[in-house]
Amino acid sequence: MRIDVLPVFGKQLDAQLQDTTVIVVDVLRATSSIICALNGGAIKVVPTVDAGDAVALASRLGARECVLGGERGGVKINGFDLGNSPEDYLGRIVRGKTVIVSTTNGTGALHSVKSADMVLLGSMINREAAAKKAAAEGNSILIVCSGTDGQPSADDLITAGAIIDAVRRYSDVREGELTDMALICENLYHNWREGSFDLNSVFHVKRLIGLGFQKDVDFCFTPDSTDTVPAYRDAVIVKA
Ligand code: MLT
Repeated sequence: MRIDVLPVFGKQLDAQLQDTTVIVVDVLRATSSIICALNGGAIKVVPTVDAGDAVALASRLGARECVLGGERGGVKINGFDLGNSPEDYLGRIVRGKTVIVSTTNGTGALHSVKSADMVLLGSMINREAAAKKAAAEGNSILIVCSGTDGQPSADDLITAGAIIDAVRRYSDVREGELTDMALICENLYHNWREGSFDLNSVFHVKRLIGLGFQKDVDFCFTPDSTDTVPAYRDAVIVKA
């Protein structure tokens, strides 16, 4: 089983998506929040790249049907119901609703792989379940990281490595089937797990902590707190 990691999503992905299970990772915090929205009882999540599109969709559906969530630069978008703190999506506010989200990078990463047959959402909180589901598909795996403002972000790379580490428990990954980027991520994950890579040195982590979101970082980096694996198809996200 070939496993590759795209350290930051790009626009020209279509050629790489055939016979491939894609796992989109935005551990801080979009994929973690979307997992929580489904765990909180949302019917579905609709990701939009543009905040204006999110607002337009919400006004078509009406406030009784939907909840608007999202951030720019980590901060809740003005007029939206929720920002991007995962635990806020576990509350009653999302139950029975369509959640419409727009985030700085994560929803763009999802949009970039929308032509793939199978797109799953991965995070540290569901990494074992996401790995198991992806391995069961039997195709090549491409982990697409959202990064931060067009740059790779070590928090996503650690999470990609955690998923790869878990895939080995469900599939026979042979010598040479991991690309160099996949090997780098797996090693980074091992370094983080063993305490020799300091998460607090990561740009996006420092920014979130500076904005008062230490609790979100701790929540998002607690492995395997849920078995929920979202799937993105036909422009909506539901439990796989
Ligand atoms: C993003 O989409 O860029 C992130 O989820 C940002 C954040 O942590 O809110």
